Amino acid sequence: MSAPVSRLFRPLVGAALLLLGATVGLRAALPPMGLLPSAITDPDMARADYVEQCAGCHGVNGSTAPAQLPELRGRVGWFLCTPQARAYLIRLPNVANSRIKDNQQLADMMNYVVFGLGGASAPQGAAPFTADEVARERQHALSTTTLSAERASQVESAIRTCKAPASLRLLYPGQKG
Ligand code: HEC
Repeated sequence: MSAPVSRLFRPLVGAALLLLGATVGLRAALPPMGLLPSAITDPDMARADYVEQCAGCHGVNGSTAPAQLPELRGRVGWFLCTPQARAYLIRLPNVANSRIKDNQQLADMMNYVVFGLGGASAPQGAAPFTADEVARERQHALSTTTLSAERASQVESAIRTCKAPASLRLLYPGQKG
């Protein structure tokens, strides 16, 4: 009686182990959760939201160079430098108009982006995004025409105020042309 049952379950156990392996592999490739601020209510959900809504363009690790996309990994944290530069991140069309309507959930995802993917680029002591800040700034979504001028101005302020590297002017360090 027990033999056929165990035979039936063997493929299931195999599938579960495969899934576990894939999850562990994925975890290993992503930034350590230890870098994230405790303000994030649900780190797993924040990362899953990023992977679902943003990683298709920006990559699971926030790294896309040499594609013509701004590299997030190790540099997006610089935008926490000033209130206007922080606001720029929330006003990005893909962020402001996100399908995530819950402002705490969106704040969590953006904190994952700036502290998790941005890592050491987040200025020391920078405050995490709050639901209130996200609720306020997402009402002022940038249009594609104002976007690059807004980025340029916020990059200059981060270079001036927080000594962000001059390469932040580029989409990724070493970008040509
Ligand atoms: C369809 C592709 C696409 C998707 C999806 C997308 N982005 Fe972007 N993102 C871009 C492009 C292209 C830019 C460059 C400016 C622009 O045109 O928006 C950008 C700019 C940014 C920047 C500014 C970085 C800088 O250095 O100025 C951040 C931060 C960002 N995206 C985060 C996100 C987040 C978070 C999500 C998910 C909610 C997301 N993006 C979804 C394509 C995308």
